[in-house]
Amino acid sequence: QPPNLQIEESRNLERTNCRAKGAAPGFKVAILGAAGGIGQPLALLMKMNPLVSVLHLYDVVNTPGVTADISHMDTGAVVRGFLGQAQLEDALTGMDLVIIPAGVPRKPGMTRDDLFKINAGIVKTLCEGIAKCCPKAIVNVISNPVNSTVPIAAEVFKRAGTFDPKRLLGVTMLDVVRANTFVAEVLGLDPRDVDVPVVGGHAGVTILPLLSQVKPPCSFTAQEIDYLTDRIQNGGTEVVEAKAGAGSATLSMAYAAVKFADACLRGLRGDSGIVQCAFVASQVTELPFFATKVRLGRTGAEEIYPLGPLNEYERVGLEKAKNELAGSIEKGVSFIRK
Ligand code: NAI
Repeated sequence: QPPNLQIEESRNLERTNCRAKGAAPGFKVAILGAAGGIGQPLALLMKMNPLVSVLHLYDVVNTPGVTADISHMDTGAVVRGFLGQAQLEDALTGMDLVIIPAGVPRKPGMTRDDLFKINAGIVKTLCEGIAKCCPKAIVNVISNPVNSTVPIAAEVFKRAGTFDPKRLLGVTMLDVVRANTFVAEVLGLDPRDVDVPVVGGHAGVTILPLLSQVKPPCSFTAQEIDYLTDRIQNGGTEVVEAKAGAGSATLSMAYAAVKFADACLRGLRGDSGIVQCAFVASQVTELPFFATKVRLGRTGAEEIYPLGPLNEYERVGLEKAKNELAGSIEKGVSFIRK
């Protein structure tokens, strides 16, 4: 390490110890895949979050540079970088929340499932580390295909004997963020005033916006419903095509990931009434995993809300979503079991 980084590291250590003595509030958060397109802006935004006292940035490339850069921000969190598999355990030890955006993104013409081959193994390895070093941490899985990577994570944790369904959350927040934006556009409202539940999963038809449950209460024409459902389901592809080979959503995803991580941290702190959509182990349908609204508390997703009343359009969408989800979940489970 260059001397300036060594000094910074030892000062950071002192500051962390100081904080520990003074019991300053704050959580320890690790980002795995922190040097990537999502990882970098996610690290930036987490460094700005006052609930974070320690921020660990792990990747297999480029973390020294990203860490040196982010660590110069004059916000509270102490930042440390970890590079390569040999440092994974140090990156994870003692963490309260682990966010995983590691893995390859889509290129035009690819589905999220096309990423399975590479990302399944990456998520498996990272989750083995979590089971060993911070089995009580809340885990936010961003790596695609989320519909399969969350079941993979669950199987790894089950094998290790550490599985707690409340603590494993697939991040579908970007679908909600997009839905709020597109619905607000149609209604002529400020997106901050709009709340669209998006259930199911995180790929194509498994992304099911419940437009009949939008807040504030409103109604749409049949044409608006078709337009909004299609745009929300294919928002990711819209970005992949616009980036034309340079990756998928990274900036809006980092924003969504931080919105979700912040909700998890406020839940951990004991705030009441923290509700967000997430892809979790669930009994809301006959499938073992499903995205719905969940209430986040001190132990993770403490309550999973039912779907609520659906109209005919949504009931048809739900059947399609469940058909595709069943296969994606099974694919993840058998990747570990076989
Ligand atoms: P990227 O390729 O820019 O970054 C991925 C990072 O992961 C790279 O820095 C890479 O070095 C790192 N990485 C690879 N193998 C690793 C390993 N074994 N351990 C730790 N880090 C490793 O990709 P980007 O755009 O950041 O996307 C990351 C993932 O997030 C993709 O799978 C993408 O499909 C997914 N994604 C998920 C969304 C969601 O809503 N859940 C939305 C957008 C993307």
